[in-house]
Amino acid sequence: MDRTKQTNTDEKKLIGNSAAALVDNGMVVGLGTGSTTAFAIEALGRRVDEGLDIKGIPTSYQSRMLAIEWGIPLTSLDQDPVLDIALDGADQVDANLYIIKGGGAAHTNEKIVARSARRFVVLVDEKKMVDTLIHPVPLEVIPEALELVKRQVMELGGNPKLRMAVRKDGPVITDNGNLVVDADFVEIPEPGKLALQLSACTGIIEHGIFNNADIVYVGMRDGTIEILKCNR
Ligand code: A5P
Repeated sequence: MDRTKQTNTDEKKLIGNSAAALVDNGMVVGLGTGSTTAFAIEALGRRVDEGLDIKGIPTSYQSRMLAIEWGIPLTSLDQDPVLDIALDGADQVDANLYIIKGGGAAHTNEKIVARSARRFVVLVDEKKMVDTLIHPVPLEVIPEALELVKRQVMELGGNPKLRMAVRKDGPVITDNGNLVVDADFVEIPEPGKLALQLSACTGIIEHGIFNNADIVYVGMRDGTIEILKCNR
C-alpha cells in the first residue's frame, strides 16, 4: 500500500479503533462527538456485539444516536457520575497538550463528561498538532448575552463571530439551546490564561479550551500512532 495516499479518514479510523481498545469490561465510557470519535463508537459497538459489557455516556445527540445505532448501552451522569474513561476528538492540540474543542458545538457537554472521567483520551490526526494554538475558540453563549459576550471577547483582543447554521436559517443552536460564538485570537500563546479570562466573562457557559487530556492519540500520515502523555 502507498502510505502517502492515506486519507484523513484512514487516520481517524486508525486512532478510533486503537482508542476503543483501551476500554475494558465493566467500564463506563464517555462518548465524544465528531467524525473521529464516531469511528471509536463504531469500534466499541462491534466489541459490544462480541460480548464487551460497558455503558456509554454520550456528549451530544450525535453520539447518543451513534451509540444506539451500534448497540452500546447508555447511562447518565446522574446514575454514573464518575466515568472510567472518556474518548473524544479535538480541533487543535498544542505542544503542551492544551486543546481546542467545539467544532461540532458540543464542547460544554464534552467538557462535563471529560472532567467526570478518570482518564480523558483525545484522538486527533497529525494535521491538528501545532506548536501554538491558532484555531478560533468556540464559546457556548446564553442567547440574551450575545452582544455582551462579543464586547467582552473584543476587550480580550479577540474577534467574535456568531456561528451560522448550514441547512437551517439563522445561527447554530447547541444541544443545550444556546448560541455559539467563535472567538478568533489569531494566536494563543498562553491558553491557560485565556481560559481563565473566558471563564470570567458573563454570558459564556463554557469555552472550548481544554487542559485535562491524560493521553493524546495522534494518527500519523504514515499509518502509525503517536501516543502523547500529559505531565501536568
Ligand atoms: C465537537 O464539538 C468537537 O469538540 C469535536 O470533538 C471536534 O470538533 C473534533 O471533530 P472531528 O473529529 O470531526 O474533527
